[in-house]
Amino acid sequence: MSNDIAKSAAYQGPQRVFSGVQPTGSLHLGNYLGALKKFVDLQDDHDCLYCIVDLHAVTIWQDPKELAQQTRHIAAAFLASGVDPKKAVVYAQSGVRAHTELAWYFNCVARIGWLNRMTQFKDKAGKSSEKMSVGLYDYPVLQAADILAFKATHVPVGEDQKQHLELSRDIAAKFNHDFNAPNFFPLPEPLIKGPGARIMSLRDGRKKMSKSDPSDMSRINLTDDADMMAKKIRKAKTDALPFPENEHGLEERPEVTNLIGIYAALSGMTDAQVISQYAGGQFGPFKSELADLAVAKLSPITDLMSRYLADPAEIDHILGAAADKAAEISEPILAQTRDIMGFWRRGL
Ligand code: TYM
Repeated sequence: MSNDIAKSAAYQGPQRVFSGVQPTGSLHLGNYLGALKKFVDLQDDHDCLYCIVDLHAVTIWQDPKELAQQTRHIAAAFLASGVDPKKAVVYAQSGVRAHTELAWYFNCVARIGWLNRMTQFKDKAGKSSEKMSVGLYDYPVLQAADILAFKATHVPVGEDQKQHLELSRDIAAKFNHDFNAPNFFPLPEPLIKGPGARIMSLRDGRKKMSKSDPSDMSRINLTDDADMMAKKIRKAKTDALPFPENEHGLEERPEVTNLIGIYAALSGMTDAQVISQYAGGQFGPFKSELADLAVAKLSPITDLMSRYLADPAEIDHILGAAADKAAEISEPILAQTRDIMGFWRRGL
């Protein structure tokens, strides 16, 4: 992915990158390639905030005894992947009040019809939407508040977040319009393109790799040891045909497309280069080299994660300092928002 990010013509404020990851279970290869790797690529040249979104996590039941530890776990994954707290602000969402406050204001801007169209809610709720929390339904509004509390202009995410990002743009535009505040909030741009934007399940190439898939064999977790990673890749579903000769040979072969995409994303090659390297061969040797590659790229992260987790006080120190920094950035934006909306304040 190029580190150059396009500037919106109308919005004149500073360019800022924001993204979030939920502290629900262990991160997997999709999270790493779709998000964390991009976080690292962007931090050298941009003003970046990376948030552990624990308020989003509790839209589905989380054991209170485990939530804080899960938050540290994601912080450790960020750090182990190369996110540098000296360059980027890494903090927990619940520690910065702007998120919840702005979410309420945006609840009064977003329309019910907009939320009714959100496919992620439909996927998560299935047939039991009546039994889901109101928070799960409102999830994308909180996400818009996350981004706009910092007037972030760019949001690195995987492809599954595209619709939520469109909603954030709609909320920003409607707020600016309704309160006659042209370009007050930027219309945030998703940064999705690039290899790894949509990593699929190792068991079913039509389903995305997901923390919530009941089969652990469907994903490579950042906490898996080398043997487990290799086993999962060896057992990954393919089909009866040989390795494709060219990109046309990927049609209707979602599992093969996915494995080649993973190889390309991990090695920095294009899909076409991977195909030409293994063209017409068997899957055995390809899978074994893919397993070596995955282990070479991910094991150092797994090891570093354990080292960070062995020192929770250091993680807490990083999260605490960053929460202060995030509050420093968001408070003036919140104050301006309140003024624009006409709320009473002392000395008005
Ligand atoms: P979460 O925690 O589900 O996922 C974290 C990031 O990982 C990406 N991702 C994937 N990328 C490629 N292939 C996959 N199979 C895959 N699975 C997950 C996600 O796209 C995401 O970038 N709603 C967000 C969290 C959030 C957020 C925000 C993101 C809350 N507020 C503000 C950006 C900006 C989410 O569900 O993340």
